[in-house]
Amino acid sequence: FVHQLADASVPIPELLTSPLHPEPQPALPLPPDLFGLHRANSTGLDLSVPALRAPLLAAYASVQVPHVPEFDAKLASSALLTSASSYQKWSKLPVTERTATLRRAADALQAELPRFCALLVKEAFKTWNDAVGEVREAIDFLRYYAAQAELIMQPQTMPGMEGDSVLGITGESNELRLTGRGPWVCISPWNFPLAIFLGQVAAALATGNTVLAKPAEQTPGVALEAVKLLHVAGVPEGALQLLHGPGETVGAALVAAPGVAGVVFTGSTQVAKIINRTLAAKDGPIVPLIAETGGINAMLVDSTALPEQVSDAVMQSAFRSAGQRCSALRLLCVHEDIADKVIAMISGAAQELVAGDPADLATDVGPVIDREAFEGIQTHLQRLHREATPLLELMKNQPLAKADNAQTAIKQIANLIPPQTFEVASISDMKAEIFGPVLHVVRWKGDPLAVIAQINALGYGLTLGIQTRIDSRAQQLAHAAHIGNVYINRNQIGAVVGVQPFGGEGLSGTGPKAGGPHYLYRFCAEQTVTINT
Ligand code: NAD
Ligand code: ALA
Repeated sequence: FVHQLADASVPIPELLTSPLHPEPQPALPLPPDLFGLHRANSTGLDLSVPALRAPLLAAYASVQVPHVPEFDAKLASSALLTSASSYQKWSKLPVTERTATLRRAADALQAELPRFCALLVKEAFKTWNDAVGEVREAIDFLRYYAAQAELIMQPQTMPGMEGDSVLGITGESNELRLTGRGPWVCISPWNFPLAIFLGQVAAALATGNTVLAKPAEQTPGVALEAVKLLHVAGVPEGALQLLHGPGETVGAALVAAPGVAGVVFTGSTQVAKIINRTLAAKDGPIVPLIAETGGINAMLVDSTALPEQVSDAVMQSAFRSAGQRCSALRLLCVHEDIADKVIAMISGAAQELVAGDPADLATDVGPVIDREAFEGIQTHLQRLHREATPLLELMKNQPLAKADNAQTAIKQIANLIPPQTFEVASISDMKAEIFGPVLHVVRWKGDPLAVIAQINALGYGLTLGIQTRIDSRAQQLAHAAHIGNVYINRNQIGAVVGVQPFGGEGLSGTGPKAGGPHYLYRFCAEQTVTINT
């Protein structure tokens, strides 16, 4: 048979379809205790229920955001040496010992959900609903990656002759083994300071790597508490180091240091490109980079769409989390036949939104993360006021939640941007991701595929909403879109771990998708061992 393989007369299509190519892996059985499985979608919890809100408010009254000392960027190389030395032990543990630490941390996080929610409200200015959703997502990442590592890190006997699973089809024994790669640098953003931070770290640790975790400079306190959970759960200190500080110094030094086996980065496209260039210029091995970045996310609404459903999806997608989600809706492309109706409905719905202090349970839209973000969005708004049509009636009566918590209110309220909507002339007016509660609306007519082509031409590819009652059209548009996550007739945020793998293409990222069955493979080295029996 081996000779046949080398024989040019054997037709190639037959070889390609032969049993040499294993069937696709069965879908991962999901851990039954994932939180995402128990919520219909991302619309949140009803926190007016006293039993739900009481523990959150009690935790808020007592929790302090811890001070986290800054790491000296000059020590990056020695942190790498510590990580490499710890890798020798951590990577040799049975996978089930590593994943047991993640499950213990998940249980501890679940037990401490109110405290972590309170930290997210205080440090990242999350609303309570967003905070609860984020802690649950973090727990799901820990459990999902634990389960998946156990599934994929078992040595795999490659396909054998019929009735002989040991001797391969080549007459030899062939085994595929996955291992870690070494120390990974995990760099995360402030907008999911717990879920994305822990997701990256859990994926790297489960697969046998060690971790140098660089959280966003705005949210090191949440990261510190998360790292403490993992250390208490059994992850050695050398296997997981928290290195807080500015991205331009600490982040850059870690990426550039010798001995980095991989980098997983979630943040802006611009910084992903800087990291990519640094890695490409390094001496030594080619270092893998997983980059999950931003988007200019659109929703296409055709003339058959249900305006009420569109309005609800827009409120969630554009304004929840103050628009500070990579998945958030930035550009609503609405068919001109129903544009006026949809815009009027969005205006009405937006007037019900409460912008204000995130610690107030009534708040739907909290402030943006800091002054720099606030000023960047204001500059964009000034340009929109010059070049676009403000749909001003949208927010004219919008209530503000009272800043009733003196501890946090003053700083936060100064950075409050109530939701804004502007009508722009064309899709190509969208030049950059605006990371705040600003919605751009454009009217279209004609062929919806032409609209998708213009959205594709923006170069990003993270999320897309499609609103139509024509099923075949929804499928056709989804196929035509170069976009990682497409949501039909619903909002376009809140991907569920293990069920809605999340991540983009083009300027939005490299893949593989977080919370999906392929993610862990990128953290692994693969070895095929062939024995001539
Ligand atoms: P950012 O790119 O400014 O920072 C992200 C991280 O990179 C931070 O920890 C920062 O300190 C670090 N960093 C900055 N410069 C660096 C450098 N030169 N070298 C190494 N590290 C450096 O992004 P941000 O403002 O924290 O987060 C918002 C961005 O993240 C948005 O663009 C958003 O779309 C994106 N995001 C993407 C996803 C996704 O899954 N695709 C998820 C969340 C956020
Ligand atoms: N994973 C987050 C969402 O889907 C960013 O909204």
